[in-house]
Amino acid sequence: MSVSIDDYCDAHTSQPEGVLNDIYRSIALHTANPHMSSSPYQGVLLEMLVRLKQPRIAVELGSYAGYGSVCMARGLAPDGMLHVVEANEECEYLIRQHLDMAGMSARVSIHIGQALEVIPQLPDGIEVAFVDADKVNYQQYYDMLLPKMASGGLLILDNMLWYGRVLESPETQLRCDRSTRVIQQLNDYITNDTRVSNILLPLRDGVMVCMVR
Ligand SMILES: C[S@@+](CC[C@H](N)C(=O)[O-])C[C@H]1O[C@@H](n2cnc3c(N)ncnc32)[C@H](O)[C@@H]1O
Repeated sequence: MSVSIDDYCDAHTSQPEGVLNDIYRSIALHTANPHMSSSPYQGVLLEMLVRLKQPRIAVELGSYAGYGSVCMARGLAPDGMLHVVEANEECEYLIRQHLDMAGMSARVSIHIGQALEVIPQLPDGIEVAFVDADKVNYQQYYDMLLPKMASGGLLILDNMLWYGRVLESPETQLRCDRSTRVIQQLNDYITNDTRVSNILLPLRDGVMVCMVR
């Protein structure tokens, strides 16, 4: 039996305990596309990054069934609040149920709507933001969130390797789908953006971590 690097990494990462396990099982049982959810492996990183900052204000764009939301909420400052933005109103029930299971309901404000419309209503001074919604709007999300971030804040974007499609060369760009082009251009844009220092981690589908200067 061959063990993949992903399996090996999973096996050598803290395993989700108690309620996180129950939530992940519930997502597998009750959602049509459980692969849309963050995995326990990604959840460990998310919780760790948020816990290091202990933010009073955090944001997640795209929650799906709330696994990432729960992980983020667990790392907030004692008086911190996570603002979750989700376009699909059918997701709200499970997000609320999973936050309840984790005892995190009071720490999370759920905004059902399009991220482009909700971001202007979010408070300034965001200390951690996790962008995990539709890829075609990632550039706008970055540009709208950055001025709202606190100095030293972390802006984290998921799927920045886009299944490896970011390696498509300019000659084949015409065949690239729109999301691929947006993510390629955003990776270049962020790397040249003097407002942040950044690292693209080859973790699962690529996690870009930007620290606001
Ligand atoms: C990959 S899932 C999010 C997974 C979640 N962050 C987690 O950690 O488990 C993407 C979510 O983004 C939502 N979404 C897509 N377009 C959106 C938009 N324009 N505004 C807000 N949410 C959106 C989808 O409905 C979906 O639930």
